[in-house]
Amino acid sequence: MSDIVKPTFQPNREFAKQARIKNMCEYNDLQTWASEDYEGFWGHFANEKIDWFSPYSQVLDESTAPFYKWFVNGKLNVAHQCIDRHLATRKNKAAIIFEGDRGDKQIITYLELYYNVNKFANLLKNEFGVKKGDRVVIYMPMIPEAAYAMLACARIGAIHSIVFGGFSAEALKDRIEDADAKVVITADGAYRKDKPYMLKPVVDEALSGNTPVQKVLVIERNNEEITWVSGRDYSYNELIKHQSTKCEAEVMDAEDPLFLLYTSGSTGKPKGVQHNSAGYILWAQMTMEWVFDVKENDTYWCTADVGWITGHTYIVYGPLAMGATTVMFEGVPTYPDAGRPWKMVEEYKINQFYTAPTAIRVLHKMGEDEPAKYDLSSLKVLGTVGEPIDPPAWKWYYEAVGGSKCAIVDTYWQTETGGHIVSPLPGATPIKPACATFPLPGIIAEILDPQTGEKVGVGEGGYMCVTRPWPSMIRGIWGDPERFVKSYFGDVKKDGKPVYFTGDGAVYDEEGYITITGRTDDVINVSGHRMGTAEVEAACKKHPNVAEVAVVGKPHELKGEGIFAYIVLKSEDTMAEEMEMVKEINKVIIKEIGNIAICDDIVFVPGLPKTRSGKIMRRILRSIAKGEVITQDISTLEDPSIVATIEVKVKG
Ligand code: WT7
Repeated sequence: MSDIVKPTFQPNREFAKQARIKNMCEYNDLQTWASEDYEGFWGHFANEKIDWFSPYSQVLDESTAPFYKWFVNGKLNVAHQCIDRHLATRKNKAAIIFEGDRGDKQIITYLELYYNVNKFANLLKNEFGVKKGDRVVIYMPMIPEAAYAMLACARIGAIHSIVFGGFSAEALKDRIEDADAKVVITADGAYRKDKPYMLKPVVDEALSGNTPVQKVLVIERNNEEITWVSGRDYSYNELIKHQSTKCEAEVMDAEDPLFLLYTSGSTGKPKGVQHNSAGYILWAQMTMEWVFDVKENDTYWCTADVGWITGHTYIVYGPLAMGATTVMFEGVPTYPDAGRPWKMVEEYKINQFYTAPTAIRVLHKMGEDEPAKYDLSSLKVLGTVGEPIDPPAWKWYYEAVGGSKCAIVDTYWQTETGGHIVSPLPGATPIKPACATFPLPGIIAEILDPQTGEKVGVGEGGYMCVTRPWPSMIRGIWGDPERFVKSYFGDVKKDGKPVYFTGDGAVYDEEGYITITGRTDDVINVSGHRMGTAEVEAACKKHPNVAEVAVVGKPHELKGEGIFAYIVLKSEDTMAEEMEMVKEINKVIIKEIGNIAICDDIVFVPGLPKTRSGKIMRRILRSIAKGEVITQDISTLEDPSIVATIEVKVKG
C-alpha cells in the first residue's frame, strides 16, 4: 500500500445535511471531547441511549485492567432495550422483515416481537429450567426464531453461544463442552437454493456420548423427518403454543455476560469471546446510528448470518436497540440468480445495505449487469465488512449498486471489538476507495510499532491497536483469563496502561487515513470468515496418513484468501493415490470443522522448512504458495534444499 489515494468521493450534500454526524468538524469535536473527557463522553451517551433500570455509579473502572468494568452497578436488560422501550412509540413498526429462501415473507412488528420473545423466554425458563447465567447454544438457520432465541436468552439472563450452522458436529460439540451448555436450540433444518438441508442430525451427532446438554429445542422449519430423543428433544412449535406472552425482564448488571461467540485465534482451539450487557448494547446502538445513519422510516439489510458477530451486532442487537427495521434473509444471494439482493432492495425499498467483499465479488462476477435491472434508488448507505475490499469490487459497488451517490462505509472491526472501530461516517467522511478511514468517535485507536509502542509514520505500516478500553470490547475468553491477557495485550503500554492489539496490520497515508492491510498472525480470512491455521492443521493431522502439516493463506480471486496446506505423508504415495488423499483429507476437515475449512490447495511435500530448533518457517511457505521469489535468508534452515524441492512440487 504505497500509493496514496486522494479522497475523491466527497459526501453527497443533500444527504449530509440530514446525517447524524454531518461533517468532519463535528467528527473532530466528538473525538476531542472523547480524548479530553473520556468518561464524560461515554457517560453522556450511556445516559442518553440506555433505558437503565437503575443508574450506574461509575463510568469506567480500570482498577483490574485489562479486565475493565463499564457502567459499574448499572442495571438494565438488553431485551428490554431492544423491544420493550420501543412499544410506546413503535409498537406497530416492523422490527424484523424476513425473507425465506423460497421467497416466503413475514413482517414482525415490535409488538409481535415482544410477544414472541416473551413466550420463548417463558418456554426456556418454565419448561427447560433455564436460569440466569446458564449457557444456551443456538445452532440455527437464518429464520426469525434465531433472533427470538437470542432475545429470549437476554430477557432471562441466560448467556447464548451461537454456533454457525456450517460448523460440523465435532466443532459444535467442542463449543458445547467448552461453554458447558445445558440447552441447545436448533431447527430440523431449513432451505437453501430451494432445497431442504438439515441441522438436527448434526446436533444428534454432537450430543452422542457424554454431554452437558439436557434439553434440545427444535424449531420445525422444513418439516423433514428427524429423530426425536424422548426426554431430551422438544418441539418448539408445540411448546410455544402454551406459553404466556408476559415475561418480566430479568434485572441484569451492566457487566453480566450477554453472550459468548467462539472465534479462531492464531493458536489452539477457538476461543469463547465474552461480551457483557451494557457496554456491548450501547456501542451496537451508537454505531448503528452513526455508521449506517438509519432513519425512523428506513429499512436496513445486513446479509450476514447470526452465527457470526456481524449477525449479532448488525442484524439483531444494533438495529433493534435503535428501534430500526432489520431484514433477515434465509437464502443465498446468488439464488435463483445474482439479481436476488437487488430484487429485494427494490421490493423492500432498502435504504442501507451491508455485506462482505466476497459477496460483492461473487455478485459482480456472476451478475455484473444485474443491479441495472432493478430500481435501487432507495439506497443511501452501502457497507462492507470482514476483509479488505479490493478497489475493483469497491468501484462496482459504488457505481453499479450505489449509482455513484451512496456513501460506502468500509467498516473495520472484529468479534472482539463488539462493534465497528474504524469506519467512515456517511455524509461526513470524504471517502477513498477501499479505505476504512478514521477511528469512530470515542475509539482511541492508533497504528503502533509493535516493538517500540510508538505511533508509526506515514506509509510505514504497523499494528492496528486501541489504546483506551471502550464499552463494547471483549471482556474475556470463557474459562481462560490468562489466554485473554496473552492474546490481546502485549508488553507494549501507553501511558502505563495496557494496549489492545487487534492482530491486524494497517498503514496511515499522508492525510491520516487508515487502511487495514490484513492479519499479522496465523489467522487467515476466507470469504470474510476467520480461520486459524492451527485449527485446520489439527484437523488434517486426524488423518492417519498425515505425518506433518503446515497451513497458510493464499490470495484467492473471490474468497479473498484460500486455504493452502503443505502435507508430509507417513507413507509416500504415487500421484494417483495423492488425488485420493486430497479428497480424504478434505473429508476429515469437513468432519472436524465444516465445509468452510476445505483446503483449496493440498500439496504433498517430503518435508517442511524448519529452523534448527524445529520451528516451521511459515513465511517461506506463504511466499511459495503465492508464487513469489524467495528472498528470505534460508541458510539457517535445518535443510535449506527443501525450499527448492517444495517450490518444484508447488509449480508442478
Ligand atoms: C477480522 C475479524 C468484523 C465482523 C466480521 C469478521 C478482518 C474485518 C475488515 C475491514 C479489512 C477487515 C480483520 C479482522 N476485517 N473488517 N473492513 N477491512 N479487514 O469478524 O471473524 O472477528 O474477523 O476480519 O482481519 O481482524 P471476525
